[in-house]
Amino acid sequence: MQASKLRVGVLGAGAWAEHAHVPGWLRDPRCEVVAICDVEYERAQGFAQKLGLPQATADWQTLVGRPDIDVIDVVTPSHTHFELAMAALQSGKHVLCEKPIAFDFRQTLQAAGLAKEKGLKTKCGFTFRYSPGVQYAKSLMDEGFVGRPFIYNGYEQNSQWLDPQNPLRQVDPNSDQSVIQTSSLEGYGAPVIDIGHWWVGADYASVVGTMRNFIPERMVRATGKMMRMNIDDGDIFIGEYTNGAIGTIQTSFVTVGNYPGIEVRIYGEQGAIICRLVEEFGVAETIKIATPDSVEFKQVNIPQRFYPTGGHPKESWRSLFYANLIKDFIDEIHEGGERNQGNFVDGAWVQEAINAVELSFHERRWVDLPLSR
Ligand SMILES: NC(=O)c1ccc[n+]([C@@H]2O[C@H](COP(=O)([O-])OP(=O)(O)OC[C@H]3O[C@@H](n4cnc5c(N)ncnc54)[C@H](O)[C@@H]3O)[C@@H](O)[C@H]2O)c1
Repeated sequence: MQASKLRVGVLGAGAWAEHAHVPGWLRDPRCEVVAICDVEYERAQGFAQKLGLPQATADWQTLVGRPDIDVIDVVTPSHTHFELAMAALQSGKHVLCEKPIAFDFRQTLQAAGLAKEKGLKTKCGFTFRYSPGVQYAKSLMDEGFVGRPFIYNGYEQNSQWLDPQNPLRQVDPNSDQSVIQTSSLEGYGAPVIDIGHWWVGADYASVVGTMRNFIPERMVRATGKMMRMNIDDGDIFIGEYTNGAIGTIQTSFVTVGNYPGIEVRIYGEQGAIICRLVEEFGVAETIKIATPDSVEFKQVNIPQRFYPTGGHPKESWRSLFYANLIKDFIDEIHEGGERNQGNFVDGAWVQEAINAVELSFHERRWVDLPLSR
């Protein structure tokens, strides 16, 4: 049995690896985490001790090149994802990578192309696509509950950085502060743009959007100082899909509310579904449905089959949703064949939408998709 287990190397010993990725791998008996790597060796060492992993290293190149590893999991800061994911694919590994794979969708397409060429599976960290409620909603849609989709709304809003003293990461403190930097749209927009693409079942034909900086000065982790940071901490865009549906996306990390703060809604000819993924009063998510004959939305239970082994509605959303993501990735690798949901091709599509909204905002106009390659 031991020999047939998938062997996983994890890059990045930060908070998200600790609370979502590694608990997901450890929960699935079909794999084993053989090493944790962090460029800050003490972090990797402390992480290995805390989570009971056999090896810690600071040398990602050697880890990625090891012939006895099947899967590389990239959970490092966003600007490093592309280099690490490409190196892992070059070395013949299946890759799970946090989003974004790259800030320009063309690079994400390049990584997707390399995976295809080498017959490897990829997966983006689209955590919320795998929540039991979102998966259940999709199964209802597949059975025809919503019918032809008319309108999709996706929100990710919480107050994670409402307090300007909370040290900000993932930003370039040396960037030109006269130009707004994409921030919430990238981090918080991606998962709800992804769910819309999957649920509506069509691409965007055109988008128009705006971004806003509400809190001008913040503590920056890289400098340890309060600084002017002209980042998008709130944004809205409208999208027209190629199948005639329309939708909106709204994100912010300075709007009052709890983690993760996602709400996704689909309204169609036959019915409507609202998934609310906000940890409130000990419950990770709720799902409500309505039909033309019963227009008062009523909450329904999520069937047990959508939960990972041992999972329940009161588990932390981080480990609950990620356990489903990792289970699905292992299923896809074992199955072989074409099935590979939420892969780098989907990641590139989401990134292209983000890049189109950036263009729309900077040029103050509607932008048609696809963008030029
Ligand atoms: N999908 C989601 O819902 C979700 C939620 C939270 C975070 N994230 C993403 O996960 C990623 C990690 O977030 P985090 O909060 O854990 O960050 P973090 O800063 O706490 O940890 C990242 C770690 O990676 C290490 N690192 C940097 N370069 C490396 C390299 N080349 N090789 C190995 N290690 C390296 C850093 O030293 C650091 O310890 C980010 O891209 C973030 O956006 C996604």
